[in-house]
Order: sequence, then C-alpha cells, then structure tokens
Amino acid sequence: MVKYSCERCGKGFSQKSHYDSHNKRKTPCENNADKIKVLIDKVVEEKLKELNKKLIIENNKVNINTDIMQLLENQINQVKYIDLFCGMGSFHYSFQKLGFKCVMACDIYKPAKENYKKNYNIDVLGDICDIDPSIIESYDILCAGFPCQPFSQAGHHKGFKDSRGTMFSQVMRFVKINIPKVVILENVQALLNHNKGKSFAKIKEDLEKEGYNIIYKVLKCNDYGIPQMRKRLFIIGFKNIEVNNLDNFFELSEYKKNTTLTDYLGQNFKKDVAYTLRCGGKHSAINDRHNWDGYWVDDKEYRLTIDDGLKLQGFNNYDFVGNKNEKWKMLGNTIPTIFTEIIGKQIIKHTSFNSNV
Ligand SMILES: C[S@@+](CC[C@H](N)C(=O)[O-])C[C@H]1O[C@@H](n2cnc3c(N)ncnc32)[C@H](O)[C@@H]1O
Repeated sequence: MVKYSCERCGKGFSQKSHYDSHNKRKTPCENNADKIKVLIDKVVEEKLKELNKKLIIENNKVNINTDIMQLLENQINQVKYIDLFCGMGSFHYSFQKLGFKCVMACDIYKPAKENYKKNYNIDVLGDICDIDPSIIESYDILCAGFPCQPFSQAGHHKGFKDSRGTMFSQVMRFVKINIPKVVILENVQALLNHNKGKSFAKIKEDLEKEGYNIIYKVLKCNDYGIPQMRKRLFIIGFKNIEVNNLDNFFELSEYKKNTTLTDYLGQNFKKDVAYTLRCGGKHSAINDRHNWDGYWVDDKEYRLTIDDGLKLQGFNNYDFVGNKNEKWKMLGNTIPTIFTEIIGKQIIKHTSFNSNV
C-alpha cells in the first residue's frame, strides 16, 4: 500500500525508509511537475496560435476587438530568453525595457538570487550543472555572462583547466538541447588571448559546430556615456534566424557618448574616468596599482559608495539588498547595462525580433 509519495516525481512508497533514501539520492529524481508545466505551456502556445489565425480570418467578417488580437499576437511573438549566471541581472534590466520575457535564470550566489527575485520577481534556479535544459519553456535567446576569473588578468589563467572554465561546456549543454536562435556570451577581454588564443578558438569552434554564425567585439564602457574603464568581450551566435547586415552588427556609432565622472556623479573628480569596478581589492591606497575605488575629489580622498557603483554599472532604481561586501561583489561581477541594452537594440534592428513595448 502506498503511504508516502515523492513530491517531485510522484513515485509511491509503502515504507518510510525507502521514501527517505529516495529523497537522499545523489542524483535527484526528475521533477515531473516542471515537465508537465513545459508541456502545458507548449500546448497552450500552439492553441493560441491557432486561435489567433482563426481570429484573423473572422476579423474580415465580423468586427473583433483588434486590441485583443494585438495582445494575443504580442504574447505569441514575445521574444523569450534565459539568463544563465544571472548575477544581479544586467540582461534582465535591459531586456525588460525591450519587452523581452525571461523564462529562466540561474545563479549559485544566494544574494544574487535574492536581488533578482526582488527586482524582477523571478525564482532563480541554482547550480547550472543541476539543471535539465529539456524542462525549460522554449526560448529565442540564451544569455550567459559566464564566470570570468579563469580568463581574467586577475585570475590564474587556468582557463578550461579551472573547474569554472568548464562553465562554458555547461552553456553548450543548453545550446545543444534548446537550440536558441541567438546566443550571447559575455566575458573579459583577456579571454581573446588566453592560452595563446586557444580558449577563444574552442568557444568559437564549438558554437560553429552547432551551426552558429559568430560575431564578437570588445566594448568599452566610457565610449557609451558611462565613465568607467571597463571593457567586456561579447560573442554572439545566430542560428535559424535571418540577420540583415551581420557585418555591421557592431556598428555602434549612434550610441557613442562622452561623459566624465564629474558630469556623471555630480562631484568635482580629479580623474575623468573611473577604474574598472572589481570584486576584491577595495580600500587600497589611492596610488597603489590595485586601487579602483579611491579618487581625489576637491583635493580630498573620496571612496566610491554603493550608489556610485550602481550608477557606474548603469542600474537606476535598483532595489539592492544584502550587506556591503555582497553588494560590491555583485557590482564587480555585473555587466554595465549600457552594453546589454545596446546588444538588445541591435538584435531588434538586425533580425525579425520585435520589441514588445
Ligand atoms: C560574471 S558573473 C555574471 C554577472 C551577471 N550576468 C550580471 O548581469 O550581474 C558570474 C556569475 O556566475 C555565478 N556562478 C558561478 N558558478 C555557477 C554555477 N555553477 N551555476 C550557476 N551560477 C554560477 C556567480 O555566482 C556569478 O554571479
């Protein structure tokens, strides 16, 4: 007789000891509830498409409320994305302004998960290694600012030998199963030359093997109106989607803008452009080569505040929770929102994807 049943997979047990050992399995059982949700979403989406077609036909005969049709059409055509290694959510911050819908986000850092939930009302999943891509609702764009320490100047240059380096193979797991139309990878500039260029070549080769056309570019924050030296590499792959003028995708002159720290933060800074915000090394002496948060303002020493950090990464009205160390860590890890905004806008400009706002 079934006395206990697993909440994830529904399996029944007559003895408590069997039920307990099932719950302690190293590899968790499959979550059928999630699978069913994905199936239902797919069926509903198909039905909505059919209904929409019918409405379009009937609309010629009877005067059906065109607003409802527009609403349905928008729902169906809404660009969907996933946010892997989501951190405090630069992709989400910018993509929501474009009307894109996030269908999954993951990160292992608890404070990042809390901030994502607070600001975007999404329950963030945990370790990417534990996520089964086949249960995710279908989506168009995969975003992944994967951990950069193995490739950065500050890291130990271990690349794919560092276990964090294998986060790229985790990304490829999703790419192979979900086949998104667009893949956006973000990382440090040093990835280009890491291991004599072999790491970058491997990333490009793996994506090309899956049929993606790849473009890439290093963007510099202070070229686009934010006075921070930060540079970041963006690798973008396209598959099963027509991209007009791909070679000009990174022609970004319309977004160029000059500004200074004094203009931007409203105080009299001696320096024009801030150093790159980083996770560690705060409070170094101003003349120390590790310094990035200390500046001269009106001939007095000034340390960047969390609010300055948010502005220098392009987050306005962000409801930031956590202690100072956690906040600086997330700020040091995140992507200036001007980059994710520009990339979202360029995707709309060069593909058939629509902004939904
Ligand atoms: C460079 S940051 C990404 C920043 C993020 N895109 C943003 O906009 O703030 C890398 C993130 O990967 C997360 N991470 C590291 N290992 C992970 C794993 N195994 N699974 C999920 N997230 C992981 C870290 O906690 C960190 O937040």
